[in-house]
Amino acid sequence: MGRTPDCAVGEALLASRLARRTVELNQRKGNAMGRQTLHERSPVHDRQGERYGGEQTVHEPSTTDAMGGFYDEKRATSQLRSYRENGPIASTAALIEALATAGVEGATLLDIGGGIGAVQHELLDAGVTHAISVDASAAYLSAAREEGRRRGHADRVTYLHGDFVHLADSVPPVGIVTLDRVINVYPDWERLTGLAASHAQGLLGLVYPRDTPMVRVVVFGMNLMLRFKGKPVRAAIRADDAIERIAHENGLALLVARDVGPAWRVALFQRT
Ligand SMILES: C[S@@+](CC[C@H](N)C(=O)[O-])C[C@H]1O[C@@H](n2cnc3c(N)ncnc32)[C@H](O)[C@@H]1O
Repeated sequence: MGRTPDCAVGEALLASRLARRTVELNQRKGNAMGRQTLHERSPVHDRQGERYGGEQTVHEPSTTDAMGGFYDEKRATSQLRSYRENGPIASTAALIEALATAGVEGATLLDIGGGIGAVQHELLDAGVTHAISVDASAAYLSAAREEGRRRGHADRVTYLHGDFVHLADSVPPVGIVTLDRVINVYPDWERLTGLAASHAQGLLGLVYPRDTPMVRVVVFGMNLMLRFKGKPVRAAIRADDAIERIAHENGLALLVARDVGPAWRVALFQRT
C-alpha cells in the first residue's frame, strides 16, 4: 500500500495527529473515527487569517496544528524525493489520467490536501492554468511550493495553509477539485467532501481506500499500532455509496471509477 516505510503510514490511509480530545471522545463511543466532527466538538473556532511568506494561513489549532505535526518536514522531504525519483504513485497517476482524459485544458484546480503536490504539478503541465493548493500541513505545502518553483509554475499556484473546512468560504468555486487520499485521514470527511463537491464547477476527483476485507485488516492493524504507540491518529474507510450520495447532493454525477491495486479507488464526478 505504500512505497517506503516513511510514507507507508500516510499512503496506507493514516491520519495526521488529530486532536487527542477528538480521539478520546471517539474511543469512548467505541468508534475511533466517529461521525461527529472535530469542529462541532471544538468550543472555539480560532479562525485567524494571517499572511507570511506569501501564504495565507488560517489556524484551526486542533486540526491544522495536529496535521502539521504528523505530516512533518521529514515525511514531506521523503515524499518529495520519492516523487522526483519515481513520479506519482499509481493511485495518484490514475486520478491524473482520469482528469486529463475528461479534460483539464484552461481549468483552475483546487487541490485539497495535495501534500507535496503531485496532482497540481502534473496537471499544471497538462494544461491547467492556475491551481489553489490547500493543505493543513505547512511542511507539505512548503514542499509543494519548492517543487513548483523547480518546475517553474509556482507563480501559477496559490498556496493556502489550513483546514479546508475552515477555509472553504474564502475559496472560490473552480473547474476541478481533487481530494487525493485525504477523506480517509480527516474525521469530518462528509463535511470536507461536501465542501469540495460544492466548489467543483466541473470535475471532482477522489482517491480513497477500497472497502475490502484485506484493507479492513490493514487499517485495523495500523490503528492498533498507532494506538499502541500512543499516537492520536487513525485510518478509516469511507463507503462508496456515502461518497456518491454527497456528490449527488451537490449536483455531481459519477463519471468514472476504478480500483487501483488492492488498496485504492479512484472516482471522478462531473457536474450535471
Ligand atoms: C495522506 S496525505 C495525502 C497527500 C497527497 N494528496 C497524496 O496523496 O500524496 C493527506 C494530506 O491531506 C492533508 N489534509 C487532511 N485533511 C485536510 C483538510 N481538512 N484540509 C486541508 N488539508 C488536509 C494533510 O495535511 C496531508 O497533507
